Amino acid sequence: MPSDLTHLRSSIGASLERPVDEPWTLDPGHYTSPDYYDLEVEQIWKKEWICVGHVKEVPNVGDFFSIQFVNEPLVIVRGADAQIRALSTVCRHRLMLVAEPGACGNANSFVCPYHRWTYGLDGQLKSALHMERHRDFDPSGISLPEFRLEIWNDLIWINLDDDAPPLAPRLVELEEAMAVYKGPEGGVMAALYDKTWKGNWKSQVENNLEGYHHMGMHQQSIELYSPTKNVTNLTHGEYWTRHQVPYERGRDVTETLLSEAD
Ligand code: FES
Repeated sequence: MPSDLTHLRSSIGASLERPVDEPWTLDPGHYTSPDYYDLEVEQIWKKEWICVGHVKEVPNVGDFFSIQFVNEPLVIVRGADAQIRALSTVCRHRLMLVAEPGACGNANSFVCPYHRWTYGLDGQLKSALHMERHRDFDPSGISLPEFRLEIWNDLIWINLDDDAPPLAPRLVELEEAMAVYKGPEGGVMAALYDKTWKGNWKSQVENNLEGYHHMGMHQQSIELYSPTKNVTNLTHGEYWTRHQVPYERGRDVTETLLSEAD
């Protein structure tokens, strides 16, 4: 194991022994080391539940959006049975993508651009032109690989690890906090914010987990109903934290917030 990786791992391990009210920060290498990033991919991104969207992005049969998740190109699609699935977009023939990352819309099927193999919304191969000439070819045994997917509070979560424990039991304590975001018909998706950050992924996560910047970056939006002076971070076990803020239902600051982010 590279020495910097050994140091970075032991540094993180030592942090677990520190009282939560003792300030501590990650080493620069936690953000810049390629070896540490590879470790995170293997231990976190390929093993944890990751939220990739909201059910209202795919309300109708055939609605889909395609993403690149770590090294897996995926499509999130609502099938004819109304189920939402996470399918690999790698064609089973010669590995061309049946949907490019970033694509979205509504489809009856996914057609590979290379030789026009056609897959159903459930990933099953429906047709492969001229392959009937091959005596041993059996389309019924061919489908796009499916990954685990859970819907929790209308949010779409996926996991590349077949052996990972289910998500919902781990978030039971969070149900009460989520209740304030639900209207009579469930959650409301006010806006989609899709942006690529040039930096280590933890920089973005850390920004979302702190309310210290409300009084600066968001003084015309979030600060108005969630002022920095009132924000308290609550930590629950090993899994998650949240902000404790006064909530004012019906206040819509979405447009202001999005314009601040541009
Ligand atoms: S690579 Fe997809 S049909 Fe050939």
